[in-house]
Amino acid sequence: MRILSGIQPSGNLHLGNYFGAIAQFLARQESGDELFIFVANWHALTTTHNPEELKKNSFEITVAYLALGLDPNKTVLYRQSDVPEILELAWILACLAPMGLLERAVSFKDKTIKGLDPNVGLFNYPILQAADILALQPDIVPVGKDQKQHLEITRDLAEKFNRTFGETLKLPSPEIPESVATVPGTNGEKMSKSYGNTIDLFVDDSVLKKQVMGIITDSTAKGEPLDCAKCNVYALFKLLSTEEEVRDLAKKYHHGKVGYGDVKKLLLKKILNKFEDARKKFAELVKNPTEVEKILEAGAKKARAEAQKTLTVIRKKVGLK
Ligand code: ADP
Ligand code: TRP
Repeated sequence: MRILSGIQPSGNLHLGNYFGAIAQFLARQESGDELFIFVANWHALTTTHNPEELKKNSFEITVAYLALGLDPNKTVLYRQSDVPEILELAWILACLAPMGLLERAVSFKDKTIKGLDPNVGLFNYPILQAADILALQPDIVPVGKDQKQHLEITRDLAEKFNRTFGETLKLPSPEIPESVATVPGTNGEKMSKSYGNTIDLFVDDSVLKKQVMGIITDSTAKGEPLDCAKCNVYALFKLLSTEEEVRDLAKKYHHGKVGYGDVKKLLLKKILNKFEDARKKFAELVKNPTEVEKILEAGAKKARAEAQKTLTVIRKKVGLK
């Protein structure tokens, strides 16, 4: 099966990105699926207008992919902007997309409601995402729950294309595992770079500690029973622990045997343990940009070859060639 997904290089990679997206990529790689994973740098341009920052974030997200276990011998890793066919398809899809479909997109609506003045790139964001996907014709797109609407828009646009120009594009299915659909941030809202509530995977130990110890809890004193259902620390601990460990902690909560400070320390230990190897590998790879660039260029060649196949058919269907 062909699998495709991408992440915007718009800041540090966090636990939400890992459980919502990257863990699914790794599982798919293990099961021998054909994987296309990219760095969505055109998408990041909708919000990042600092060239050094965009470059640095794009590099670091590639390093993070590699450090966490994506293997360039098995998975095609590439930078979105190295595949210009995607932009060509985005234009063709834009000419089919009803304004209303995009006006209803949450990514755009949210910004408008917050009083921000969105640029046209942000308005077109879902079309570009549809083009990323449809140019490569994957069967499955693993993402977090927040991307559900973008996948629906992608399917709508593919259907519209097929209705207008004849059966051409395969409709991809999202893969959104329920257990990790929305990882909570340190304030209990969805963990997100834009909310400043993240726990980052590749920051210094001291920063990571500060993020974990800063998780917001209620003010129940140590010795009193704690409510698992309302606790952000517990929700995050669950993602990193075995069922038995979770059951054990739930009992301690119930009987007032732990305080929030203790569980935060436990959680920090879990995170450091789970990502110990990846954090070491990240620190090594960051020193080797030439190797990382080579991997991206080789990946782009493969992704482009696939996108070119799709675009050759599409150009004919719409009458461009
Ligand atoms: P952010 O919201 O921090 O900007 P992105 O939009 O770049 O994150 O997300 C990249 C991938 O990680 C997407 O597939 C997204 O669904 C997933 N993801 C991001 N935050 C979370 C979260 N809190 N829980 C689950 N998945 C998430
Ligand atoms: N919009 C996605 C996010 O914010 C990133 C993305 C861009 C993407 N193009 C994609 C994800 C195509 C899956 C498939 O995380």
